[in-house]
Amino acid sequence: MADTDDIRDGKSFGLDTPASTEGFYLKGLNNTDWGLKNRLSRIFNKKSGNTVMLAFDHGFLMGPTSGLERIDLNIAPLAEEADCLMGTRGMLRSSIPATCTKPVCLRTDTGTTILTEMNNNVLISEIEAINMNASAMAAMLSVGEKETEHITIANFSRLVDIGMKYGIPVMGVTAVGKDMARDARYFGMASRVCAENGASIVKTYYTEGFEKVVAACPVPVVIAGGKKLPELEALELCYNAIQCGASGVDMGRNVFQSEAPLAMMKAVKGVVHDGLKPAEGFDLFETLSK
Ligand code: 5RP
Repeated sequence: MADTDDIRDGKSFGLDTPASTEGFYLKGLNNTDWGLKNRLSRIFNKKSGNTVMLAFDHGFLMGPTSGLERIDLNIAPLAEEADCLMGTRGMLRSSIPATCTKPVCLRTDTGTTILTEMNNNVLISEIEAINMNASAMAAMLSVGEKETEHITIANFSRLVDIGMKYGIPVMGVTAVGKDMARDARYFGMASRVCAENGASIVKTYYTEGFEKVVAACPVPVVIAGGKKLPELEALELCYNAIQCGASGVDMGRNVFQSEAPLAMMKAVKGVVHDGLKPAEGFDLFETLSK
């Protein structure tokens, strides 16, 4: 039985201090649940409002692509610098120490590789996402392919149902059909379709007119880095995206295929969180990579 003989009356009710009615710091997410906001707060830096996610999920589509031959050697040493780790359950379990407490955005769809038809995917079990202590779940939403568009949208929508049930945010990974222009119109459309279906985060590609993509997407947008660029150009990409209103990056190849991945991570963080100009980020990269 707990002690009951020293129950003291409360005295500090802060009567001069009204309870806070402040909103949440990420756009479009004020009306979501506590658990979902708490998980998002692990991913997005509260000061800058942005995130630098490290993407290393490529292998589920491409196998051991350059820079991802050994996740334990190539990615695990970068983990502490990332704000969030985006990977598949297999690579996380086998190659990232469970003692790493960085939030995980779990790649939650699977089913095809680059050798066949892309985007004919299914979802993995939500039990796995909970088991992997996921702070977010990611799945592809691809517009413009007659055969697969409806599959990816149905998957995505079901994943949001699951995410809402357990308070796990869902990130939409946008794609457009292979014959479609990779421009603001189509990435803007894919991004908006993600948001309409309940995405908490949208990942898309930087394009000309990106400010319109971000404006029309009511939840945070992060950019993929795309194919490997010279470091200065990759930092310009990050900078331009942030200037257009992006909330960060979910970057893979431009980090892990860099000559100096750790220096590149730090330079990207300088641009995304600390407002460094691309040239300043590049100076940081050069200094750190010596
Ligand atoms: C592909 C993905 C990748 O994670 C994404 O493309 C990010 O990596 P990169 O910066 O190398 O483009 O989700 O489905």
